Amino acid sequence: MSSNSFGKLFTVTTFGESHGPAIGGVVDGCPPGLPLEPAMFLHDLERRATGRSRHTSQRHEADEVEILSGVYEGRTTGTPIALLIRNTDARSKDYAAIAQTFRPGHADYTYWHKYGIRDPRGGGRASARETTVRVAAGVIAKAWLARRHGVRVRGYLAQLGELVPKGFDWEAVEQNPFFWPHAAQVPELERYMDALRKSGDSVGARVNVVAEGVPPGWGEPVYGKLDAELAAALMSINAVKGVEIGDGFAAVGQRGSEHRDELQMDGFTSNHAGGILGGISTGQPILASAAFKPTSSILIPGRSVDMEGHAVDVVTKGRHDPCVGIRATPIVEAMVALVLMDQALRHRAQCADVGDMAPRIA
Ligand SMILES: Cc1cc2nc3c(=O)[nH]c(=O)nc-3n(C[C@H](O)[C@H](O)[C@H](O)COP(=O)(O)O)c2cc1C
Repeated sequence: MSSNSFGKLFTVTTFGESHGPAIGGVVDGCPPGLPLEPAMFLHDLERRATGRSRHTSQRHEADEVEILSGVYEGRTTGTPIALLIRNTDARSKDYAAIAQTFRPGHADYTYWHKYGIRDPRGGGRASARETTVRVAAGVIAKAWLARRHGVRVRGYLAQLGELVPKGFDWEAVEQNPFFWPHAAQVPELERYMDALRKSGDSVGARVNVVAEGVPPGWGEPVYGKLDAELAAALMSINAVKGVEIGDGFAAVGQRGSEHRDELQMDGFTSNHAGGILGGISTGQPILASAAFKPTSSILIPGRSVDMEGHAVDVVTKGRHDPCVGIRATPIVEAMVALVLMDQALRHRAQCADVGDMAPRIA
């Protein structure tokens, strides 16, 4: 299967299935000398992990990252960094009943038609288990971006079903299992999720991400535009059905006088563009948003067909996320960090001699 790699100078290749012995990846192109040790992966992998609250899947994976190569005495050597994460809590028997049917909303039907064979256990390669490796690779990108450029990539849950934040505080985001930016609403979210689980149904969600400290100049027109690569990276996450950069689709109803971000020496007057113009970073925060569809594996029976073409009702048992967006914040952050690091290295390769240009807007 091809297209398991992305990036040009900073490349990530992932492998593995949900219920295979392990998942992993090879991160190539990381500059030498970056401090890297297994403990650095713990925080983000814990943020992505299942079973962190009753509102996510109850699969309990150890998510321990083994660094197999590319690091010597706690620092990257510039050679490929191989990462291995063993699957420790796969229960394939949950999937025996659905091996002969195509679950609605899943990749079963499409993988079957493309490859003529599929691994039904936990969704195989289509499982979001693969995103664990993206998050691990993202840890490396975040560390390099922070150390080399002071860039910080942070995300939060910006909508859960019909609920939207009634306030905003970055501090709150890390203090609840929803990555919700308004602490006072968390009990409401818990009640909402409890009722949803009881109903056997699922909902969608929106995750926003902000990358601060990106200097002007990153991004490669015309086919490697920063916004184009961010959109592709975010759309590659399981269950993402929409991506916005800056005001995104709201721009449709805006006037030019409102949308264009005016330039002043002490700063742009607004950031409707999401920090990107002509596919190149402006120096403002990069703003991206991803829409996640509702979980397809639900207890409410859904109509489908089996391998013989007979009509069947599908009820998906097993351990599922009633809202996949709840765990997606670190995945969205990781994909943004991976794109930014690749673009930073590409900018350095072609344009390092250009140096800092004046005037530079604050
Ligand atoms: C963090 C995360 C967790 C997910 N967990 C589940 C799940 O428990 N059950 C499910 O049906 N889909 C889950 N998904 C979504 C499926 O992986 C995805 O819908 C499926 O592979 C089909 O691909 P597509 O929706 O991208 O077209 C999850 C997605 C993400 C990002």
